[in-house]
Amino acid sequence: MLDTVHYKTRQREAFRDDVVAGLSAAGKTLPSRWLYDDRGCELFERITALEEYYPTRTETAILRQHAAEMAELCGPGASLLEYGAGAGVKTEILLGALHSPRAYLPVDIAGDFLDLTAARIRRRFPRLEVQPLVADFTTDFDLPDELPAAGRVGFFPGSTIGNLDAAETAAFLRQMRRHAGRQGAAIIGVDLRKDLSILLPAYDDLEGITAEFNLNLLHRINRELDADFAPDQFRHQARWNEAESAVEMHLVSQCAQTAAVDGQVFHFAPGETIHTESSRKYDPAGFGAAAQRAGWRVEHIWTDPARRFAVFGLKAVPNRRFE
Ligand code: AVJ
Repeated sequence: MLDTVHYKTRQREAFRDDVVAGLSAAGKTLPSRWLYDDRGCELFERITALEEYYPTRTETAILRQHAAEMAELCGPGASLLEYGAGAGVKTEILLGALHSPRAYLPVDIAGDFLDLTAARIRRRFPRLEVQPLVADFTTDFDLPDELPAAGRVGFFPGSTIGNLDAAETAAFLRQMRRHAGRQGAAIIGVDLRKDLSILLPAYDDLEGITAEFNLNLLHRINRELDADFAPDQFRHQARWNEAESAVEMHLVSQCAQTAAVDGQVFHFAPGETIHTESSRKYDPAGFGAAAQRAGWRVEHIWTDPARRFAVFGLKAVPNRRFE
């Protein structure tokens, strides 16, 4: 209980520090991880069911169709390490296809959410050892020593990797390689570059759910940090950044206005934006090269007929440099 209270206080402080730092910068920005409070998660779930939002259903179809080959890559007795516990259906598709999997280790910062995931997987796979780990997977953390070296498989679906910038992606792929070890493998979902007529509507749907998801961040700041943003004076925008190969979400100020956060006042010019998320889109060769630099060999690229999304099957390159 005390732990929970401390966790909440620390979390609030981290949120405030990020908001104050982000709004003080020359180009205003807020880290995308704060989009996912309870309301944000609910809205994201609704996004995944939208006609315009192709990634979730496309990746799920790829996993269903190629689960047997993925199980082949993982080998018998695998221990599945999932970075960010939330994929639900996707995890169950892969676990269901694996040959006598040994363990499932979901890694997430949200402890209560992890417990729910663990309980659900235990019910579905009663013979599997389920060992949740509370950790921020974008920072350094170690796996339990007892985990056997053989058969470790990193699983990172959802194109969540697209939210990381180049340096974070490199660090993440290296940490996954260190965790998996020299006999390890990885399965990673990556969204691909494509025509803007498909990409942009995926982040700016007609029903306005993505707009609500983006604007919820201002509501959350008001709720949790005693701030006085006027969310109806900001508009959601999705734009393509070619240099970053990313779809960006912004909140555009509709007038000259101010907002106070924790006693500090921030000014917004008309048309000024807050950058709230980057969702990087890769070409297969580019992602393969990033994986190679981190100690992986590309074994498979599974994709859909329209080549919208790719699931990469990676094998560790046995080199001490990466351990
Ligand atoms: C959960 C990070 C994969 O980038 O496509 C969806 C989040 N943002 N619509 C993505 C998101 C706006 C999503 N990820």
